[in-house]
Amino acid sequence: MQIPKILDPRGNLSFFENESQVPFSIARTYWIYDVPGGEIRGGHAYRSLQEVIVSLSGSFDVVLNDGVSSKVYSLNRSYVGLYVPSMIWRHMENFSTNSLALVVADKVYDEKEYIRDFDEFVAKKSKP
Ligand code: TYD
Repeated sequence: MQIPKILDPRGNLSFFENESQVPFSIARTYWIYDVPGGEIRGGHAYRSLQEVIVSLSGSFDVVLNDGVSSKVYSLNRSYVGLYVPSMIWRHMENFSTNSLALVVADKVYDEKEYIRDFDEFVAKKSKP
C-alpha cells in the first residue's frame, strides 16, 4: 500500500487520512520501538480488527499467515503501509536497531479481539 509522499528539499512528508489512504476509520494508533535484537512481537490474529503497519524508521519483517501458508513483508520505507485484515495470523521479527513500527487500527484495544493460540486460529480458519 503506497502512502502519499510529499517530496520537499526541506524533508519529505507523508500522511494517513481516514478511509482514503487507510481502508477504515482509525480508532487507535500505537507504535513499537526499542525492540532488542532477535525479539519477536505479535504472534496472534484478530477476530475482526484490521490494521495498517508502517516502518517509520529502520526495518523489520511482518510475517502474515492465512492458516495455510505464510508470506514475509519487509518494511523499510515511511511511505509504504502493509494492510493486515482480520483473521490473519501475524508476527513481526528482524527489527533493526532503532526501528520504529507505527500501527493504526480500526478498533480500540480489546483483549477479546485476540486469538493467541495458533491451533485455535487454524481451526477457526478451516471452518466453512
Ligand atoms: P500485544 O498486542 O499483545 O503485543 P505483542 O502481540 O507484540 O506481544 O500487546 C502487549 C501488551 O500491551 C498487552 O498486555 C496489551 C497492551 N496493549 C494495550 O494496552 N494497548 C494497545 O493498543 C496494544 C497494542 C497493546
